[in-house]
Amino acid sequence: MGVNPAAERGPGGRPVRVRMENITRRFGAIQALDNVNLYLEEGEVLGLVGDNAAGKSTLTKILAGAEVPDSGQILIDGKAVTFSSPADARNLGVEMVYQDLSLCDTIDVAGNLFLGREPMRNLLGMRFLDRPRMHKEARQLLNALNIRVQNTRNPVQRLSGGQRQSIAICRAVSFQPKILIMDEPTAALAVAEVEAVLRLIREISQRGVSVILITHRLQDLFVVCDRIMVLYEGRNVAERAAKETNLEEIVRLIVGGRFAHLTPAAEAA
Ligand SMILES: Nc1ncnc2c1ncn2[C@@H]1O[C@H](COP(=O)(O)OP(=O)(O)OP(=O)(O)O)[C@@H](O)[C@H]1O
Ligand SMILES: [Mg+2]
Repeated sequence: MGVNPAAERGPGGRPVRVRMENITRRFGAIQALDNVNLYLEEGEVLGLVGDNAAGKSTLTKILAGAEVPDSGQILIDGKAVTFSSPADARNLGVEMVYQDLSLCDTIDVAGNLFLGREPMRNLLGMRFLDRPRMHKEARQLLNALNIRVQNTRNPVQRLSGGQRQSIAICRAVSFQPKILIMDEPTAALAVAEVEAVLRLIREISQRGVSVILITHRLQDLFVVCDRIMVLYEGRNVAERAAKETNLEEIVRLIVGGRFAHLTPAAEAA
């Protein structure tokens, strides 16, 4: 991953990989995003939080080319870009693991890792799927990320939630992204599986990949994130270095003013 010496450095001292500026998106009467700003440094893990419907998925889908903003701009490594599809974003190094994972249940592990770009071989002028190579390369990808899956020939529907999540992350990482977005990767997982996914996130960021982690499991933020950004009803409300905040403050920022009437001060008034 080449470092451009002229690249803008962020407050964390590392080159700024992504800048989203004044991103606005409306769906009919709903203002999903209202002039939202986001930046992300190289190798940084940014926790993106907010209540349901705060705009987290919409914002990150825009960065991944799966949604188009009404206005605003995206810069990658300092250059303005426009995406009209996830393929455009992938070409510039952005991958997203979606909330629904987008795995194909009836296909095996290796097939899912290489879906749409399966290794082929020529035989007597015809092209065939090169299964041995696909399984060998799948095993290499899984090993490189310490993902434990016994058999790459198992259909993914037979795997646990954590293993399925790991396969989806492994597939995204195999495109060698500079920026990896994960939308609630630990939402449906058992405790040990959560730990494995968090370890995986740390491993990926240590290779210089910038990560955006969307989660409602707020305790996870303090395990893997460098920085936490809070959205409230489609607007930026706060941003904190993970070391300089705590769970209580983040909860307060997420709920915004909605529960102010429950605070002791308001009760006394
Ligand atoms: N394709 C769409 N059509 C209409 N409205 C949409 C669409 N996508 C998102 N919205 C609306 O935009 C708002 C923001 O949604 P978004 O999915 O970004 O929230 P979120 O922060 O990811 O929430 P959650 O935590 O529930 O996943 C919501 O009010 C949602 O209903
Ligand atoms: Mg969402």
